[in-house]
Amino acid sequence: MKILVVNGPNLNLLGKRKPEIYGTETLDEIMDALSVFLAGKDCEAEFFQSNHEGAIIDRIHAAMGNTDGIIINPGAYTHYSYAIRDAIEAVSIPTVEVHLSDIHGREPFRAVSVIEPVCIAQISALGAKSYEVGAEILLSKLQ
Ligand code: DQA
Repeated sequence: MKILVVNGPNLNLLGKRKPEIYGTETLDEIMDALSVFLAGKDCEAEFFQSNHEGAIIDRIHAAMGNTDGIIINPGAYTHYSYAIRDAIEAVSIPTVEVHLSDIHGREPFRAVSVIEPVCIAQISALGAKSYEVGAEILLSKLQ
């Protein structure tokens, strides 16, 4: 099983960025733990982070035909990127949306996800654990 993990804008600053909301772990630390978790489930994982919408779309397109599932934290693109939404829909790869923070309990604009309708699940508010729970759900749908 091959899984692509995509992280969107500003997530490269995890550890330094609003630790009271996003925690103190860096993105590398969170992805390392996810990599170990996925390896334990016999999954090969690829990790991609970008602050650019087009680069995220290109990476999703490149997954077509060679990737079984996607885990994506689109960052703020969650709330308004119809282009990322359409890319996920276009490649038809089962995708889980994850967030570290509780997007439903913060500013009202964060409660809206334009990505959610094309995903099989949305996980939020569990901190770094959101990625692992997202992976569990994705794998349970793929097996
Ligand atoms: C986030 C939530 C988004 O609203 C925010 O713009 C982020 C991070 C999260 O993981 O909690 O960049 O996706």
